[in-house]
Amino acid sequence: MVHIYRLLYALFVLILFTLFGCKEYDKKLTSEKEIPSKPIGLKQNYKDDFFIGAAINHALIEKRDSLGLELLETEFNSITPENIMKWMHIHPGKEVYDFSLPDAYVDLGERHQHFTVGHTLVWHSQLAEWVTEVKDSTELKEVMEDHINTIVGRYKGKIDSWDVVNEALNEDGSLRESVFYELAGEKYLEWAFELAAEADPEAQLTYNDYNLTNPEKRAGAISIVKQLKDKGLKIDVVGMQGHWNLKGPSLKEIEESILAYHNAGVKVAITELDITVLPNPWDLEGAEVSQNFEGSEFMNPYPESLPDSVQKELADRYQSIFKLFLKHKDKIDRVTFWGMNDGSSWLNGWPIKNRTNYPLLFDRSYRPKEAYHSVLALKN
Ligand code: G3I
Repeated sequence: MVHIYRLLYALFVLILFTLFGCKEYDKKLTSEKEIPSKPIGLKQNYKDDFFIGAAINHALIEKRDSLGLELLETEFNSITPENIMKWMHIHPGKEVYDFSLPDAYVDLGERHQHFTVGHTLVWHSQLAEWVTEVKDSTELKEVMEDHINTIVGRYKGKIDSWDVVNEALNEDGSLRESVFYELAGEKYLEWAFELAAEADPEAQLTYNDYNLTNPEKRAGAISIVKQLKDKGLKIDVVGMQGHWNLKGPSLKEIEESILAYHNAGVKVAITELDITVLPNPWDLEGAEVSQNFEGSEFMNPYPESLPDSVQKELADRYQSIFKLFLKHKDKIDRVTFWGMNDGSSWLNGWPIKNRTNYPLLFDRSYRPKEAYHSVLALKN
């Protein structure tokens, strides 16, 4: 009889455990499943290293590109406006500002909580026509005061980082003969950084240029940093644009440059990264870029798709570059790609129009390429 009671008791306990105990255990398993063990996406994987940014165009800012917006959310945590904040668009007449798209851009950055970049305050290109009519340095200073105070002031606390001066250097490291330089000499650099710091003391301030791995130009950028620092002015970052190709610049040149800017007392940002896979007319002996290469099969070798071998070469190149960035993550603040996908890259139209280039991590349908996986693999 006692045995039967014991047996019934054991059965009762078993039923209780099955009903309640296992449920608790199941709940634990389910909730563990809900939290992925490895976060996905570039921004999560690189979150302890540097910001991962993308330049965005007006279609995305106007929310006409839903796939792009989705990708922006999952992969990136920083944005740069590709064109809409350039002088000719934001300040087209002396008394005329157009903030419609810049406001939408800044709203987008706030909503997604992205590190939001302003590009660019002072640049000789995509300048409004009226600025070329400025007569002397006094008038230029007034114009720059109005431009920088108005724009930086409007977005104070909302734009995290400004490309204050863009592409002021020639390849030999001397200052470019722009309207700014012609009227004010090197003083215009000081005005620009001083005005930007006054208008938003918290914003990060950047000098941004291409070919900054070239030793002569690098020396020019370092002398700009020194000039500003000697005057007690704020400059936080040198932006190496990073319009590179499959072979150059070498990893050694990139590394030496990161170290040189770091030693000059600023952070480094890679501000406009893309890697062209197409032949460059300047590499052709005796080639003259004004020659018409449009429609030439030789200069546009992959009009339909990128061969696997080149896809792999691109993936390896991106991987070795990111490996170097990770090695120097203490010196690098941000890595921004110049565009979201291959189809919208400026490199389809430059230096030769109407080519099919493949310089980014996402293809024309926003699918991740082998290069994307090679960059992600470094974190797994
Ligand atoms: O929006 C017009 C369109 O209405 C017109 O039909 C079409 C005809 O060509 O032109 C369109 O404007 C083009 C604009 O990009 C938008 O696509 C301009 O012609 C073209 O010149 C402009 O190019 C931009 C270039 O800066 C201008 O210098 C590129 O998109 C932009 O990616 C590029 O970005 C620069 C950075 O700001 C600074 N560093 C170098 C980088 C690459 O050049």
